[in-house]
Amino acid sequence: MNSPYVNKENDSVSNDVVWHNSTVTHDDRIKQKNQKPVVLWFTGLSGSGKSTVANAVESKLLSLGKHSYLLDGDNVRHGLNKDLGFSDNDRIENIRRIGEVAKLFVDAGSIVLTAFISPFIVDRIQVRELLADGQFLEVFIDTPLAVCEQRDPKGLYKKARAGEIKHFTGIDSEYQAPINPDIHVATANYSIDQCAEQIVSALINKEYI
Ligand code: ADX
Repeated sequence: MNSPYVNKENDSVSNDVVWHNSTVTHDDRIKQKNQKPVVLWFTGLSGSGKSTVANAVESKLLSLGKHSYLLDGDNVRHGLNKDLGFSDNDRIENIRRIGEVAKLFVDAGSIVLTAFISPFIVDRIQVRELLADGQFLEVFIDTPLAVCEQRDPKGLYKKARAGEIKHFTGIDSEYQAPINPDIHVATANYSIDQCAEQIVSALINKEYI
């Protein structure tokens, strides 16, 4: 992947790094956890409900005794990705890093939920390709722009319309909706609990849990 952040000047660093296999294997970890690890990759506009629904799914998974971890856009941008803004390149790098982190959690046997706008189709495909077959499910949190803008939970659409925030997704930065998502959640028609239940049911039907 073409990342502007890869260290291109000191290639010898990566050439001298050797992969170590761990004694406890991926299979050992998933047997212990009694689940099939997967990334639930939520995508949707700001204010669409990604974090809210992902939190509700995680609570349901916990009560079913399943092991999960939620990576949330706003939180990750306070730490790992605090050097990134909202230019196209920064969003690409944001998603690339999250993909790598999600892969580590999957290796550890967890069900990973990621809640990032992840506006570009090609970046989501690249994360899917980073993972083994069946380890990535694209979850489209499909909430119309007008509804997100009306909810405006953080007041950001108002600022974007006033020109106080540039490159805001859906306003002056593109959102590429999934064409064939694995799970399609039309939040405007259902309660948060119903949306979460739809996702948990899909995990059961697909035999992840
Ligand atoms: S992504 O596009 O790179 O996937 P991410 O999910 O990490 O975005 O962060 C989106 C969150 O950052 C939004 O929910 C919103 O709270 C905040 N934000 C701040 N500026 C912008 C912007 N220009 N575009 C979109 N979201 C923004």
